Amino acid sequence: MAEAYNDRVVRQFAVMTVVWGLVGMLVGVLIAAQMAWPALNFDIPWLTFSRLRPLHTNAVIFAFGGCALFATSYYVVQRTCHARLYSDKLAAFTFWGWQAVIVAAAITLPLGITSSKEYAELEWPIDILITLVWVGYAIVFFGTLAKRKVAHIYVANWFFGAFILAIAVLHVFNNLEVPVSWTKSYSIYAGVQDAMMQWWYGHNAVGFFLTAGFLGIMYYFIPKQAERPVYSYRLSVVHFWGLVFTYIWAGPHHLHYTALPDWAQSLGMVFSLILLAPSWGGMINGIMTLSGAWQKLRTDPILKFLVVSVSFYGMATFEGPMMSIKTVNALSHYTDWTIGHVHAGALGWVAMISIGAMYFLIPRLFNRKLYSLKLVETHFWVATVGIVLYIAAMWIAGVMQGLMWRAVNADGTLTYSFVESVQAMYPFYIVRTLGGVCFFAGMVIMAYNLWRTVVGAQPVAVAIPAPAQ
Ligand code: HEM
Ligand code: HEM
Repeated sequence: MAEAYNDRVVRQFAVMTVVWGLVGMLVGVLIAAQMAWPALNFDIPWLTFSRLRPLHTNAVIFAFGGCALFATSYYVVQRTCHARLYSDKLAAFTFWGWQAVIVAAAITLPLGITSSKEYAELEWPIDILITLVWVGYAIVFFGTLAKRKVAHIYVANWFFGAFILAIAVLHVFNNLEVPVSWTKSYSIYAGVQDAMMQWWYGHNAVGFFLTAGFLGIMYYFIPKQAERPVYSYRLSVVHFWGLVFTYIWAGPHHLHYTALPDWAQSLGMVFSLILLAPSWGGMINGIMTLSGAWQKLRTDPILKFLVVSVSFYGMATFEGPMMSIKTVNALSHYTDWTIGHVHAGALGWVAMISIGAMYFLIPRLFNRKLYSLKLVETHFWVATVGIVLYIAAMWIAGVMQGLMWRAVNADGTLTYSFVESVQAMYPFYIVRTLGGVCFFAGMVIMAYNLWRTVVGAQPVAVAIPAPAQ
């Protein structure tokens, strides 16, 4: 008889989450170091910052983040629906198809093959493969929901479902392009329409890929690890509708002071400010799920990862609306402040919650006891120090850049030349690299710990409860 659940595909995606996390972050460390010491591109075209940067963003968002989302959504939808995945074959296709997309990205981006749209750089043949995989994903996920044996659809699945649907629409419409060869295409949009489509896509890639999907993780794994019910189910439903309704309008905040009509910029700003409310509603719901179980935070480092990630989510979703205010954006745009904001969300929220979920999942999926809880604790602190170094350096660097660029002398001339502002960044780029090294070191510790978990220990007879404390 077939097993109750298809955990094979979950295992595959979970392992690749760790592998791609290592690769993507190693590239991150390299490009961070190149900002401080440009000679590190060794005059090799494939290793230049301009080619490795999109490799980094694609690897961490779509390979690391994407595999984490596939793994967790397939795990959660089966458990909460009491149903096996709709189709094993299609699920296997999504795994191998997604890995093929990642490998294709890893080959084409260093070669300089790019559509040049941020977060959508991959050329049209790869875009088509992504579309096929995504349709397969939607069929498996919604098919499983359709054959569920419980009437209720748990809120985590609402977030996963919204993420899958929204990404399908965003990917298809932003990537409408005219191919001129196998490796080159041109967008069907031009000028300011192209910019608006791009940032409608770009912002909602943040809203649905980097946020809604990971909120699905939050709503399942925090209650599980804390062994407490979600703080307020009603708030989670308000959170869901508030978030999906508001996010889709906020894209124009990436295009302040451009040729985009002024009213559209203001609309983007207003919706971004409104977005603070559902975001913080969700954050409060996640953190308050620990009510009555706060003491577990002292002893359970996996819970620390999950809960601290939600605090960073709160921080990034406070900062984002502030940066969307036009006068603030006039200072922050084009500066490293944006990079600091990005990584508060990316490292603090996306990576930390994915790491927590993998520590929860991998021992269970392989039916093993976690090798070392101490190493998880070490990972937690190294990663947290890494994030603080990274984002603090970028905040200071960003505000400094913004102020230096706008400083004028009494006679109206600029106080600083551009190159002086670049020079001033040097110490901060070194600190950022150090932060990156710490975060990456944490990932290496994790890979070692999970490797020892899988290959070392004897299988345990029953599904594992929370690790011994
Ligand atoms: C070891 C960890 C990491 C390091 C050292 C690192 C480093 C960097 C560097 C140096 C840049 C280029 C900044 C610039 O152009 O000035 C960058 C960009 C970016 N990184 Fe990371 N990164 C790390 C992890 C991550 C993770 C885990 C994610 C996502 C989940 C992420 C998402 C991004 C994004 C979206 C950008 C583009 C930002 C923008 O265009 O504004 N990074 N990263
Ligand atoms: C309420 C929620 C949020 C709002 C209103 C918001 C707003 C903003 C604003 C105004 C910018 C700067 C745009 C510019 O000057 O070019 C920005 C950039 C960015 N934010 Fe957020 N943010 C939010 C949450 C997040 C979260 C949680 C993440 C990550 C997980 C994130 C990832 C990014 C990225 C990747 C960029 C850089 C885009 C680029 O230029 O390449 N944001 N955000």
